[in-house]
Amino acid sequence: MRYFIAASAATVFGLLALLLFQSDVAKNEIPFDDEQAGLKNQLVIHFSHVVAENTPKGLAAQKFADIVEQKTEGRIKVLVYPNSVLFSDSEELNAVQAGEVQMIAPSFSKLGQLELLDLPFLFRDDDHLRSVFTGPAGKNLLNRVQSQDLKPLALWSNGFKQVTHREKHLVAPNDFKNERMRIQPSSLIEQQYELLGAKPVPLSFNDVYQSLESQQIDGQENTVSNFYSKRFYKLQKFMTISNHGILGYAVLMNMAFWEKLSSDDQAILLAAMEETTKWNIEQAKKMNEIQLEKLKTSGEVTFYELSGAEKEKWRKALKGVYSKAEQDYGSEIIKEIRNAGK
Ligand code: LMR
Repeated sequence: MRYFIAASAATVFGLLALLLFQSDVAKNEIPFDDEQAGLKNQLVIHFSHVVAENTPKGLAAQKFADIVEQKTEGRIKVLVYPNSVLFSDSEELNAVQAGEVQMIAPSFSKLGQLELLDLPFLFRDDDHLRSVFTGPAGKNLLNRVQSQDLKPLALWSNGFKQVTHREKHLVAPNDFKNERMRIQPSSLIEQQYELLGAKPVPLSFNDVYQSLESQQIDGQENTVSNFYSKRFYKLQKFMTISNHGILGYAVLMNMAFWEKLSSDDQAILLAAMEETTKWNIEQAKKMNEIQLEKLKTSGEVTFYELSGAEKEKWRKALKGVYSKAEQDYGSEIIKEIRNAGK
């Protein structure tokens, strides 16, 4: 009997203690770790890319992270991994499709559906680029990339490309003959260099510097910002300002991740992306201009700017690539891009 009374008293005491503990927690009187409690609601987006932080894409990725952080008061965190530290450009598409990261921003050349944006002289100027990237043609292009694994969010810019060489200016189409030119893995770019009589060498971005150093390639094409941030100017002393093509990116999210977000969070990310995209297009233009000036004053590189007549010769030599693109992508979308902003 005594044992029974003692056991019952212990149980009642235990229950009372539990009730008191719970009410203290409810009143927040028991100390707990705010950060740990907040982590349950925190959403982390891993964003991998291949270029330096101080480039139009690197800065836009960080800008997007900052806007999202500010709009959600830190609840959604975008962690940016630059310089291929997680994945190279040949790996990142598989990685995002498999959900190993949530976001990437590969160049158009690395996405078959958008390769047509590699057509030479397709874009008149920066205003034209802005009209395409942020207008109906851009939406159309993004829809082409959507799949069960990929949610496309925006098109970002890195501006216009120039060609460089280690020992001469490439001016006339004939100057390309037999030159080994690094290209991105794009069949349309490959065809352009073949039409010029060059030997196109597709290489990952993170292999370019070393291949220039070992003289496995003689020249390459890229924007001033990529050329500058990766110090290609140490090895490529001749730049032709050709503005013959653009470098741009599709910003992509893993579809399963996107679909799990609440509609409110999706709206926040889309608003942040719209703000970032507008900023990116301006920033890309400015950055290329500023870094071109820096290169000019550094004396590291000598420049040659193609005249209108010289560009016309390139256009003629490269005309054939348009028929292939029309066959592969249809002439409608090419026309839509050409007419945007007119
Ligand atoms: C390149 O491979 O040259 C570019 O696509 C790199 C980049 O992402 O800007």
